[in-house]
Amino acid sequence: MQHLVDTNNLSDAQIDNLLFDAANFKQQRPPQLLKDKLLITLFFEPSTRTRSSFEVAAKRLGASVVHLDPSRSSTKKGESLADTFANLCAMEPDGVIIRHEENEAPGQLANMQMTTVINAGAGNYAHPTQALLDLFTIKEHFGGDIEGKTIAIVGDIVNSRVASSGIRLLTRMGMKVVLVAPKPFLPQSSDLPQYENLEAVLDKVDVIMSLRAQLERHKKPIFDDYEAYAEHYCITKKRLGSRNILVLHPGPVMRNIDISDEVLEDPRCKVLEQVKNGVFIRMAILKLLLLDC
Ligand code: NCD
Repeated sequence: MQHLVDTNNLSDAQIDNLLFDAANFKQQRPPQLLKDKLLITLFFEPSTRTRSSFEVAAKRLGASVVHLDPSRSSTKKGESLADTFANLCAMEPDGVIIRHEENEAPGQLANMQMTTVINAGAGNYAHPTQALLDLFTIKEHFGGDIEGKTIAIVGDIVNSRVASSGIRLLTRMGMKVVLVAPKPFLPQSSDLPQYENLEAVLDKVDVIMSLRAQLERHKKPIFDDYEAYAEHYCITKKRLGSRNILVLHPGPVMRNIDISDEVLEDPRCKVLEQVKNGVFIRMAILKLLLLDC
């Protein structure tokens, strides 16, 4: 039984295969490969893109999807996560897709070896399907060759699972990663180059990944005023100038704080293409995990 807790669960060959399958799915609507399969989603944190993307991916391949809303489940009556999961597994789904505020939650459920577990974002540590769809989008943009290209991750890096998963996967794939943020958003333990000044990196990057301030993970407010943050870190047309930089964001975008309205409309910004690609990548992931091919 294979799980996707982190991208480290995947071999290089499996990643190549996922990218290949996703590209094919993008070209042509696939057959109902997962017609007899049933997936359960278990999202303990809010989600717009990831949950619907998994559902669309599963349904495009013919699978059924059941959602459990933890805010209305027995978790509210004190049932443990492991017990809730075991009960869901007793219904014999082919996989459970989980989002949770604890870094370890998906791994703990995977270790129970009751059904395939897919991590849809856990704590600040891992969001493997986002990392894979970002990799797909970057490779597609550069025609496949990303070795040595530089990506700046800009924003609340220390609290972001998109950043941690992205750093692991993109460096593994040969990209250079630089981190750009005000001090409280920069990780203390990282051997990657860190900058507080966005202007200092603009001439050396091929990609910018902007990130939202993860307010729900801040124990106390880090900045009172995100307008002041935006003055230094918002990706604006003025900042980009005529540079040919690919601009990404996992969403939700805080308009005019993370990325300006103008840049969101600019062809260099591929935020909606990321969302589109997310479905194809998740289709490829479901095919790999549920059909073992
Ligand atoms: C992110 C998440 O929830 O980790 N969104 C997503 O899955 N596309 C990022 C965020 O909430 O800022």
